Amino acid sequence: MSKKYYLMSPGPTSVPPEVSLAEAKPILHHRTKVFEEMLGQVNEDLKYLFQTKNDVFTYASSGTGAMESAVANLLCAGDTALVVRGGKFGERWGNICKAYGVNFIPLDIEWGYAVSPDEIEAKLKENPNIKVVFTTLCETSTATLMPIKEIGAVVAKTNACLVVDAVSGLGVDEFRMDEWNVDVAAVGSQKGLMIPPGLAFAAVSPKALEMSKTSTLPKFYFSFAAYKKGLESGEPPYTPPVSLIYALQQALDMIKQETIEKVWQRHRLLAQATRAGITALGLRLLSKSPANGLTAAFGPGEDDGGVIVKKYSQLGITVAGGQDALKGKIFRIAHMGYAEMFDVIMSISALEMILMDMGYKFELGAGMKAAEEVLKKL
Ligand SMILES: Cc1ncc(COP(=O)(O)O)c(C=O)c1O
Repeated sequence: MSKKYYLMSPGPTSVPPEVSLAEAKPILHHRTKVFEEMLGQVNEDLKYLFQTKNDVFTYASSGTGAMESAVANLLCAGDTALVVRGGKFGERWGNICKAYGVNFIPLDIEWGYAVSPDEIEAKLKENPNIKVVFTTLCETSTATLMPIKEIGAVVAKTNACLVVDAVSGLGVDEFRMDEWNVDVAAVGSQKGLMIPPGLAFAAVSPKALEMSKTSTLPKFYFSFAAYKKGLESGEPPYTPPVSLIYALQQALDMIKQETIEKVWQRHRLLAQATRAGITALGLRLLSKSPANGLTAAFGPGEDDGGVIVKKYSQLGITVAGGQDALKGKIFRIAHMGYAEMFDVIMSISALEMILMDMGYKFELGAGMKAAEEVLKKL
């Protein structure tokens, strides 16, 4: 028999069969009444997912497109921004700012740690010219959750906008855009949303829309004004990827049925069970503020993380490795989106087999037992 394939990476994540089937529906023209009505409902459901009353713009791009749209629409060349950098994706904000000629003040955090809202407050006081604070909900490179609610409370007291990369956190970690005073949330489709790669979203507050009116950076496809007009008229500005919109509609239906609170709770328990399983085997976790969509851990020896990733792959399971300084040192197992308890059991069981194969001494079954004890609460 050919090997069964298990996708346990933090994006793309696996897609439910109902979602794949929805994608196979015949293509509707996007400038028809029936498509317009469907899109109207999808836009409402997206607001539920983001927990917002704000407009949500949908782009045919990966998540980085939504991040770029935030920079291009809010700022002018020579403006100053604050960029929280605690991993690869925090760094990406800085790279986009640099590409657009935006000056940014880096707030560097040791990888695996969450940023302190007090530090953000201090930076904003020291530099009252900061127009935008860029940060990340789940820093996927380190599996770390940032305290967005507390950061939102700090930034809301100023004229600055808070822009959050929620690419891997939305539909996974608790996130309440309006209550938490987030001005732009950027998201991709291939993570918590349970659909294939190819869609990105930017939810935009009135404060951010106001700021966008004075922005002079170049923009065309990602212009907020074009998507705002599209929402008002019911006609998307450019051809949307129709099949992915069907997939999105189905996935949002599933999320609504489960309820967003239960989606967050499911991910919380899956993450807790994965951490319990890994630590019961004597391995060390990377993050001091662990996210709920994935777990990052070190191998038994200094450079065993990469070996573990390779051995997972030999078993037909895709997990992620470390990046930059963590390359070869950590492995990252996702439990994100279309994930339930037996995904965790499979990952931990495979980990035990891998560690056995590596000659590492541990009590066989200890990881599974620890995970099962958490999972029985689901
Ligand atoms: C936190 C975070 N931000 C941004 C991205 C980039 O998204 P994309 O690859 O869809 O452009 C990712 C994807 O890995 C991510 O996890």
